[in-house]
Amino acid sequence: MVNQGPDPPARGDPLHPRRPSAAFGRESTDVEGPLADDFDREWPACWETAASLLEWHEPYDAVLDDDDAPFYRWFVGGRLNAAENCVDRHLESRQNQVALRWEGKRGERRAYTYLDLYREVNAVAAALRDLGVEEDDVVTFYLPNLPALPIGMLACARIGAHHNVVFAGFAPDALADRMDGVDSSVLVTCDGHFREGTAIGQKRKADAALAALETSIPTIVVDRLGPSHDTQLGDDQYDYDGLVTTFTGEEVEPVPRAATDPLFHIHTSGTTGEPQRMTHATGGYLAGTAWTAGTVFDLSPGDTYWCTADVGWITGHSYVVYGPLARGATVVLAEGSLRYPDRHRPWEVIERNGVEVLYTTPGTVRTFAKWGESFPAAHDLCSLRLLGTVGEPIGPDTWEWYYTNVGGERCPIVDTWWQTETGSILLSTLPGTDEMKPGSVGPPLPGIEVGIVDEHGRELPPGEPGYLTIERPWPSMLSPLEGDEYWVLAEYWQEFSDPRADSWSYFTGDRAVVDDDGYVRIIGRDDDVVTVGNRRLGTAELEAAITAVDGVTEAAAVAGTDGGDTELYVFATVAQERRDRETIREAVADSVAERVGEFVRPGAVVFTPELPETHSGKTMYRILERIVEDAPLEDSDPLRNPEIVGELATIWARE
Ligand code: PRX
Repeated sequence: MVNQGPDPPARGDPLHPRRPSAAFGRESTDVEGPLADDFDREWPACWETAASLLEWHEPYDAVLDDDDAPFYRWFVGGRLNAAENCVDRHLESRQNQVALRWEGKRGERRAYTYLDLYREVNAVAAALRDLGVEEDDVVTFYLPNLPALPIGMLACARIGAHHNVVFAGFAPDALADRMDGVDSSVLVTCDGHFREGTAIGQKRKADAALAALETSIPTIVVDRLGPSHDTQLGDDQYDYDGLVTTFTGEEVEPVPRAATDPLFHIHTSGTTGEPQRMTHATGGYLAGTAWTAGTVFDLSPGDTYWCTADVGWITGHSYVVYGPLARGATVVLAEGSLRYPDRHRPWEVIERNGVEVLYTTPGTVRTFAKWGESFPAAHDLCSLRLLGTVGEPIGPDTWEWYYTNVGGERCPIVDTWWQTETGSILLSTLPGTDEMKPGSVGPPLPGIEVGIVDEHGRELPPGEPGYLTIERPWPSMLSPLEGDEYWVLAEYWQEFSDPRADSWSYFTGDRAVVDDDGYVRIIGRDDDVVTVGNRRLGTAELEAAITAVDGVTEAAAVAGTDGGDTELYVFATVAQERRDRETIREAVADSVAERVGEFVRPGAVVFTPELPETHSGKTMYRILERIVEDAPLEDSDPLRNPEIVGELATIWARE
């Protein structure tokens, strides 16, 4: 299995970072525990290194309990509180250090010290309690990147309630799907937000979701639009600022949670039509995110760090909120588009805040590259010392652009591979330690063992593409709630495991290849999931929105690149009598926006007499992907209707 790190980099190698990671080998002082030294210890004891970065109410008895594999339990017997680890523990040594710097869309700026954060988290925790939220209840958040989102999440963690954050760009139906089944006690949303100067309603969407669910729960509404927009609050709806004012000064004791108790739920797109509830456990998740924030992002207390992700996705949970705050960093949180008010915004944010570590996506870097190097060049970016990417493979050209024009050929780049399910980064180079190879995520992190296997689960030699598996459990792994085990087993643990031998391999859903030096290159997903603009969406959910359009009989959604951007492409068959293709095309785009979210707009809607299918009637997505990528079409996969392939290629060429 591929668990060996690479050889030390050659001296003078231009891709070898010059600035060694300060975190490695650092002496242990409060949150700055030894990050990697202990990894010489035997697995799984090596993971105590990660746990030692946290404060525990009660020590754990066992690092790992694998009695009920693959439902592994980490740090069993231990008790801790995640909010206390991200906030309270910093008060003694850095209460006046800025914890959160918010950059609003309209030029607003707000800074919260760790003490401010403590006060507001306590106030919101008290307010939630007052609304009846108890330990193990669920609170749903439907908010853009406003301070109230990380604060609300931490308030939940403080009282042992689970948060369930839903990306604010999702449509009401998608919100309803993500609330259904978690039994939320409270919903937190905002009145609206501005899109390039125009006010967009958010509460309206939240109200529609509640109406669809035929439920009414207490709703907290953040006032984002200001006094010029009067939002009517109904019965059982509360103004966030009003609650904070009422409850400021109250201190809520952090609830000691078992390490194995849920911290939150987040929904992900799997291979079924429904969004899937993913649950992460308090101890392992926090240990994994804190440890990787230290090792991969080299974050120490006081470092200024900016992750451009939306808090509503896992990247925001792990690397805007929990990981960096557990490390005592100063986190920049930016609301809204990076191109508004103009293309200088990202570079102004870095310059103004003295950002040292920047974490973004290859798609964002491609957009920056398209805008041109004059934008970063117009700003002093000398504060930067480390760059990161996540979400999709970064092409060598994009990598070079990032390295040169953003990092000034001085900053290492970490290409981090992980998933909603993995909770924290599992594959990445370590800055200052490992050589960087553009286009390759690097070796598994210490403690992680991965495999590249064929369809029978047999290990493949270097250079041969196969399925990416994880061969040993890791602390921040998915921790399904009772009742979710069955589908979790089917989705992730069945494909390549041998239950009779009690041998468990986690299937990532990705295809990858390992090089001779142990570096892993990710090819892409192998399941019915598309990643558009770094958002992972289930094809089934998209296709349900497309086939809801009158006249559309069948649909397939695939992702492809267009001039560097990932786009969604729709292939659809329509009822024979329908000639109004343009109307259907528009209706498809509208339906996707309405049912999934306005952030997904198909790059093209292609009509075809049939979709390419296997003999068992499954859509052959791989062929459609090759068509949209203009890649060669020779394919050995047996199709029920091979003649459609040439026809589709002709239709596509005409588009
Ligand atoms: O296909 C891989 C891709 O994103 C998927 C996980 O998506 P999600 O759960 O939404 O989490 C995204 C952020 C962690 C993976 O299965 N992916 C993630 N990171 C990389 C990547 N593909 C290539 N390179 C990466 N660095």
